[in-house]
Amino acid sequence: MSDSAPSPARAWLGFAVAIVAVFALGLLTASVMERRVEAQIRTPLVQINAYESDNGKWAVNWPREHASWKKTLESTSETKHGGAKPRDLLAETPANVILFAGYAFSVDYNQARGHMHAVEDVEKTGRDISTKPATCWTCKSPDVPRLMAEMGPAAFYASKAKDLHTEIQHPIGCLDCHDPDTMALRISRPALVEAWASQGKDIRQASHQEMRSLVCAQCHVEYYFKKEPKNYLTFPWSEGMKIEDMEKYYDANGHVDWVHPISKTPIVKMQHPDYEVYSQGIHAYRNVSCADCHMPYKTEGGAKFTDHHIQSPLNNIQNSCAVCHRWGEAEIRGRVTAIQDKVAEGRHRAELALAQVHFDALACIQAGATDEELKPVRDLIRRSQMRWDYVAANNGMGFHAPQECQRILAAALDQAQQARVLALRLLATRGVTAPVAYPDYSSKEKAQALIQDIAAGKAPRLIP
Ligand code: HEC
Ligand code: HEC
Ligand code: HEC
Ligand code: HEC
Repeated sequence: MSDSAPSPARAWLGFAVAIVAVFALGLLTASVMERRVEAQIRTPLVQINAYESDNGKWAVNWPREHASWKKTLESTSETKHGGAKPRDLLAETPANVILFAGYAFSVDYNQARGHMHAVEDVEKTGRDISTKPATCWTCKSPDVPRLMAEMGPAAFYASKAKDLHTEIQHPIGCLDCHDPDTMALRISRPALVEAWASQGKDIRQASHQEMRSLVCAQCHVEYYFKKEPKNYLTFPWSEGMKIEDMEKYYDANGHVDWVHPISKTPIVKMQHPDYEVYSQGIHAYRNVSCADCHMPYKTEGGAKFTDHHIQSPLNNIQNSCAVCHRWGEAEIRGRVTAIQDKVAEGRHRAELALAQVHFDALACIQAGATDEELKPVRDLIRRSQMRWDYVAANNGMGFHAPQECQRILAAALDQAQQARVLALRLLATRGVTAPVAYPDYSSKEKAQALIQDIAAGKAPRLIP
């Protein structure tokens, strides 16, 4: 009956397999137990002070998060439209010098780099901080929550930047986003809490997924300094976060950041409405957070943790985008740059038209046009520049909400051209029919020399 009884050899083989299986199972159990014990005997967390701004002190408990956070020091990576390497945006697009004439950005305008440089970049910038309010420190350092707790936010904002300088020691870090007791995400800046309240919403009700973007929205937003209370940091959100909502807000309160020295237009400077623009895009619609792309999970030695090297996701496509999109790395990069190239084209068209219309208005002034006559021209310039800047100042060259950015740039271009038509008509009423002789601003140096001349009252004559 050799058919029903296994051969001795096969029986031995079965026995051996069973032994190996039991042994392997034993090993696995042992390893699981060991990990559990390890977890139990793991040194208890060191207590972190309520206002601990020294990021190094948090490293004892969270070495991986701290080590990855420190990588934001890196400042050499370059992508087509972004990266950590500071780029000189004035040299790249000299028309920016014209648009920012009379404002500090016409002197020095570099693209943002990593969080660890935040304090140092304020100190180094060609823009002078000695006259700036302390409000400027708000989005630069985890020393701010302590100072605000000690002084109260209003007194903090009302101080001078240079008077609090010695207190501002550490660049953006743990305390800005975390509660040191629980490590839960936390909003440490009052301006965002107040902006939600201005929309009738309570930020404490925000979901965990929303918090993964809201910690960024403490700083990556459009803001201005209110006059009363003095230099009080405010997000213009009470009407909503779209450009039209902000325009309505600023129309109502008459806020002006500076009067443009070429066209004499009162201008509202847009800061970096990253959160607002992102909110109009497909990823926000699909509940994908800032952290999903800029702080993806990472695995190291079997441990999974949040990568705190906040940077361009194009340096980290596998961990960020590819988790959701099964496209190849080259395709993902290509789709991002294709979107950005298109936005950049729209942006540059609006930029050039705007630069020209500032000079058209100057030509009108030279032809003797009155402020009354120029009012509709300036009103259009103001609206156009606000729109152009909403897109230009937002990071990511439109990737966060491509259609929204193109929609706004189309409006900006249209308003700039409408203003040009009005200005040329105005010139015609003064008998000027020759084309406006636009000066040369084809390089950063030429553009800066030109606006210096204009500031000194030596504007070139643009009409015969
Ligand atoms: C779907 C993924 C995704 C989400 C969500 C996202 N970003 Fe981005 N972000 C990108 C990409 C892609 C770029 C372009 C990077 C480049 O050009 O190198 C970018 C660029 C940036 C930049 C400029 C970085 C650089 O190197 O130029 C900043 C700042 C930024 N994002 C902040 C935010 C903030 C704040 C949020 C949430 C409000 C957010 N992002 C949400 C993908 C994302
Ligand atoms: C700009 C905001 C921000 C800063 C700055 C920041 N974190 Fe985080 N951190 C996050 C986000 C977002 C998460 C994901 C939390 C979640 O989804 O619950 C996170 C998660 C964590 C976690 C939970 C475990 C993990 O890895 O997911 C720890 C621990 C942590 N961070 C430690 C730190 C330490 C230490 C520092 C300072 C060196 C720091 N963080 C700085 C935003 C920040
Ligand atoms: C406390 C304010 C603050 C918070 C909170 C904050 N940022 Fe920033 N972020 C900044 C500032 C300021 C810079 C520019 C630093 C510089 O250029 O010196 C910056 C720069 C960046 C850059 C450019 C880095 C590069 O390599 O080009 C990215 C990307 C970025 N932030 C994303 C985020 C994301 C995502 C979050 C939320 C998880 C966040 N930030 C939270 C203030 C903040
Ligand atoms: C957490 C998941 C998630 C992550 C991470 C993510 N995406 Fe997406 N992405 C989505 C979803 C969901 C959609 C919308 C799909 C839809 O509704 O059809 C989308 C849509 C897109 C689209 C199409 C947009 C359009 O209008 O057609 C592009 C391009 C894109 N993502 C690029 C990226 C890039 C680049 C990254 C990394 C920087 C990234 N995504 C990260 C989930 C994600």
